[in-house]
Amino acid sequence: MNKEFQFIETKVEDSIGFIALNRPKVLNAINRGMVSEIVEAMESYDRDEYIRVIVLSGKGRAFAAGADIDEMVDADPIGMELLNQFTDWDRLGAIKKPIIGAIHGFALGGGFELALCCDLLIAAEDAEFGFPEVNLGVMPGAGGTQRLTKLVGRSRALRWLMTGDRFSAKEALHYGVVCETIPTDLLMEETVRFAKNLATKPPLSLRLIKESVQKAVDSSTLEGMQFERKNFYLLFSSEDQKEGMTAFKEKRKPQFRGR
Ligand code: HXC
Repeated sequence: MNKEFQFIETKVEDSIGFIALNRPKVLNAINRGMVSEIVEAMESYDRDEYIRVIVLSGKGRAFAAGADIDEMVDADPIGMELLNQFTDWDRLGAIKKPIIGAIHGFALGGGFELALCCDLLIAAEDAEFGFPEVNLGVMPGAGGTQRLTKLVGRSRALRWLMTGDRFSAKEALHYGVVCETIPTDLLMEETVRFAKNLATKPPLSLRLIKESVQKAVDSSTLEGMQFERKNFYLLFSSEDQKEGMTAFKEKRKPQFRGR
């Protein structure tokens, strides 16, 4: 994607599409323009056959310290309804490719909600998560109460949401919010290694695994099992299934093409 953005930086390398939040002076506070740019970049990566994995990170000393408080301090409910900013946030939930969040420093409020839109979170040891909205007289509004509760359960979610307390990368790993923690200076290197490995996997399998796991979060076990089974059968019509199984029989490395 050859486009200059105002609030994010993008680059493509080795079939990985990178997006870095880029308002470091305000700890990448997420304004409406930034959300629109993230959605635009993600959707463009999602359409691009060359790209297999998306990596989201933050420049400077934080991932993101929340939605931009300057934009909200004088807001009124009807004005916010008419702005309809959450349509953009909802579009993030429709991205088909795996999104890896590389989180360092603060991931607070809307920044944490953005992280929770990722499929896999890799945290630097210095990462600090939390929902401080309660201390501002509000609450999360971009999925935080829903996604966090589904991840960690009601009791732990309420503990963090009602106190606004921040928690460490170690705790985030313990409670299953992130899947890995990495020494801070190795975060991007290790994330890229992880993303490159994912990029060798069959894209259609990744896509249907992502959809099926989301189904597990959103539906009954029976409904989810039926959905899983149909996706499993569907993959037998792909060239990559033939390639994967033939390569196994021929004792060679498979080359997956996403067909
Ligand atoms: C606007 C912000 C900001 C934010 C930090 N800044 N967070 N500006 N919105 N969310 C700005 C500060 O005003 C400051 O600007 C600069 O970034 C550096 O921050 P400091 O506070 O000086 O840094 P530090 O002392 O290290 O403290 C870091 C911090 C603190 C603990 C993260 O900045 C903080 O508490 N930020 C707010 C966190 C928060 O409440 N997030 C939730 C927002 S509500 P200047 O110009 O003074 O240098 C939300 C709702 C989401 O996210 C709803 C759905 C979209």
